[in-house]
Amino acid sequence: MHQNSSYDLEYVRSQFPALALTVNSYPAAYFDGPGGTQVPQRVLDAVNDYLIYCNANAGGKFLTSHNSDLVIREARKALADFLGASPDEIAFGQNMTTLNYQLALALTRSPGKRREIIITEIDHEANRGPWLALKERGYKILEVRMDRETCTIDMDDYKNKLSGDTFLAAINYASNGVGTINRVEEMIELAHQAGAITVVDAVHYALHGPVDVKKINADYLLCSAYKFFGPHIGILYGKKALFSELPAYRLRTQSALVPNLIETGTLNHEGIAGTTEAVEFIADLGRRFGFSGSGSGLSGSEKISERRSQVLSGMRAMEQHEQPLAEKMLDDLASIQGVRVYGPPRDYPRTSTISFTIEGKRADRVAEELGKKGLFVWDGHFYAIRLVEKLGLLENGGLIRAGLCPYNTEQEVDRLLEEVKRLAK
Ligand SMILES: Cc1ncc(COP(=O)(O)O)c(C=O)c1O
Repeated sequence: MHQNSSYDLEYVRSQFPALALTVNSYPAAYFDGPGGTQVPQRVLDAVNDYLIYCNANAGGKFLTSHNSDLVIREARKALADFLGASPDEIAFGQNMTTLNYQLALALTRSPGKRREIIITEIDHEANRGPWLALKERGYKILEVRMDRETCTIDMDDYKNKLSGDTFLAAINYASNGVGTINRVEEMIELAHQAGAITVVDAVHYALHGPVDVKKINADYLLCSAYKFFGPHIGILYGKKALFSELPAYRLRTQSALVPNLIETGTLNHEGIAGTTEAVEFIADLGRRFGFSGSGSGLSGSEKISERRSQVLSGMRAMEQHEQPLAEKMLDDLASIQGVRVYGPPRDYPRTSTISFTIEGKRADRVAEELGKKGLFVWDGHFYAIRLVEKLGLLENGGLIRAGLCPYNTEQEVDRLLEEVKRLAK
């Protein structure tokens, strides 16, 4: 893949005030994006402006409450453009994990005949724990194998586990542990053929590729704004026909209509205001550096909004910046003696999130050494604990994870590689 020559990295970096940070005189290099990205100025401004001009609870008869309602309405539209949905299919919550628990409890409120739920070994615990908890309600949880060599889902095992008893398949779009992009569209189709509901965790994928909920035909899909330049907000997409029937646990005072029926309590309004601007930031990248029309990841001739088209271009521009850096990192890490990279084969779809180990060194010690040089990487299992356990690494401290973002530079990658080389000696 070639670098996008129109991509102005200096402009992109200038949008993120946090990039000015230094550690022991080293400029901070943020490779911790898969754990949460940095935030552009326009998101900070939106949070600030909300608290000055719109700070009120919802549904009042006065100016700030009207403003607040408008901010939330606009955010649903922005997220609908981000995911290819309708605004009334977008709900907000505390974070993905909490929304997924709410969803799991609501979907199984009155258990029917189908009592099996499928989860995978590759998933983050947030798309496993809420389903595993349903054993208490009499559900049987079946776990699909991940191939340890390739860090990909064993599709034969998945197919074998689907049956007329499957109530729901919990599916991972992309692995936050090793970057594998899973065959989500095919997995959803197979689940639907078996008559099951699908819940997709797109938290990691949403930063790395365009989500099109209609194209993949997800029933429910979750993501988190703090993974794509926004504040700490969880987002739930629900296919309207199903979502409007969801027996969510709610207060008597709460609306029974979508999308509010799952939105318990007062929402994080200022965070929601910032989330709109996170989408606008990606759309801005699309306007500046993107390619319009073909290659946007969209199917057919479906008419889409201008902002969605810009978002799709923005996603592509980011990917075109990150992928060559990721390839360089994969090549160079693999050539360092004592370093082992974990993840899918080179021709398999993946995000620019790269995990590795250094022989004889615990991941936390490596991360600590790198941190002193201003190189921010994560260590451990990143809540993809089952995956790390299956790789046999849990006892020895897990993985070191470096994730690329649109603001990372080649110099930062070189700095990281040089330090890894030094630590591997
Ligand atoms: C793939 C994946 N799923 C789910 C989550 C949980 O998201 P949240 O922190 O919004 O609950 C994360 C967070 O790291 C993640 O990476």
